[in-house]
Amino acid sequence: MGPKTLCLGLFCVLLASHNYITLPGNIEELWKVIALDVVAKTCTFVAMCFENIGIMRYEEFISIIFRLDYTQPLSDENITVTDTAFVDIPVRLYLPKRKSEAVRRAVIYIHGGAYCFGSFKQRSFDFLNRWTANKLDAVVVALDYRLAPQHLFPTQFEDSIAVVKFFLQDEILTKYGVDPARICISGDSAGATLAAAVTQQVQNDLKIKHKIKIQTLLYPSLQVIDSYLPAHRENEHGIVLTREIAIKLLSLSLTKHEGFPQAMKRNQHMPLESRHLFKFVNWSTLLPEKYRKDHVYTEPILGRFSLPVPALMDIRASPLLASDSQLQNLPSTYILTCQYDLLRDDGLMYVTRLKGVGVQVAHDHIEDGIHGALSFMTTPLYLNLGLRIRDMYISWLDKNL
Ligand SMILES: *[C@@H]1O[C@H](CO)[C@@H](O)[C@H](O)[C@H]1NC(C)=O
Ligand SMILES: *[C@@H]1O[C@H](CO)[C@@H](O)[C@H](O)[C@H]1NC(C)=O
Repeated sequence: MGPKTLCLGLFCVLLASHNYITLPGNIEELWKVIALDVVAKTCTFVAMCFENIGIMRYEEFISIIFRLDYTQPLSDENITVTDTAFVDIPVRLYLPKRKSEAVRRAVIYIHGGAYCFGSFKQRSFDFLNRWTANKLDAVVVALDYRLAPQHLFPTQFEDSIAVVKFFLQDEILTKYGVDPARICISGDSAGATLAAAVTQQVQNDLKIKHKIKIQTLLYPSLQVIDSYLPAHRENEHGIVLTREIAIKLLSLSLTKHEGFPQAMKRNQHMPLESRHLFKFVNWSTLLPEKYRKDHVYTEPILGRFSLPVPALMDIRASPLLASDSQLQNLPSTYILTCQYDLLRDDGLMYVTRLKGVGVQVAHDHIEDGIHGALSFMTTPLYLNLGLRIRDMYISWLDKNL
């Protein structure tokens, strides 16, 4: 195939995709976003073909693409970067080289990837964590967790909290010169689910001496019990993340039952005994009017899917299910949400709930934001939006940690 045919082919795909997704006009670098979306949807298409033909599973193909982007730990003039393990779980440490008399601030970063993909080794996360260590003169601990579908939830949570508990010990904080009173937990997407769940656990556990000073949740996923929120309806065929793929990936991490994704697509995946939980994700009361628009609230149908999926009622998979008294102990929180994001309403509802119990919340909503933008900070998948999010995140961290 000559380069001309290739270009023509790409152009056609671009055109076709532009027709089936109605991209909002206010998006910055619109053509780049379209190109990214075409790449993402083409990868999805190929992965689905491979799965249907029986060559390899969907998630195996996508994993290969993710791995192409992994980096080695590379120190620079300011930061020593090393890959090591805390309680057998891989971490990448960023330690500032500058001599310091005082103890430093620390950030624990948990990467996204729908529990199925990714690592702190991805170029964008390596870049972000190095940037954080440099700008804040902070110690950064980036952690990996075992991935789905080989490891079902709550493995991802258990690995994350094991690293956090290990790090919060006196002798470890002393070893790395960290101030126990100035520690942050951050994450994006599914990493933000883990960050929120770990923070809830640490703050409410009397046995843990040192607490978290702040948490930052970047376009977080915070519940798996209602799959038909306004954001799910508006972004069903969303840029980069579609409802179908989100449900497919989430299902892979929650259960091996085959009929589950279909049930979730119809919002009929929850058991009868979960009725009392829906008040925690009732968007008709928790979502500001601006986002409710004229969407009509419909009660999810319960009890249709009868096989047990324990993770569904687990607060660690859905931090929004925490009670008010559990939320009260949470530290000052930063939440970033994006308008064109399937997960938008999870973050918005958490803002409402945290404010409702008196937790300090800073909320940035990006009107032209799309999901996963932090993964697009390095060439060739570079978006200015990624840098904007990075800068908002770093500036809040710097002022509040
Ligand atoms: C190291 O820090 C200095 C001073 O903050 C900065 O100008 C320089 O760009 C940093 N180097 C790297 C590789 O980030
Ligand atoms: C959600 O809130 C609405 C009121 O806005 C109420 O009518 C409905 O019963 C609530 N649903 C659940 C499951 O709590």
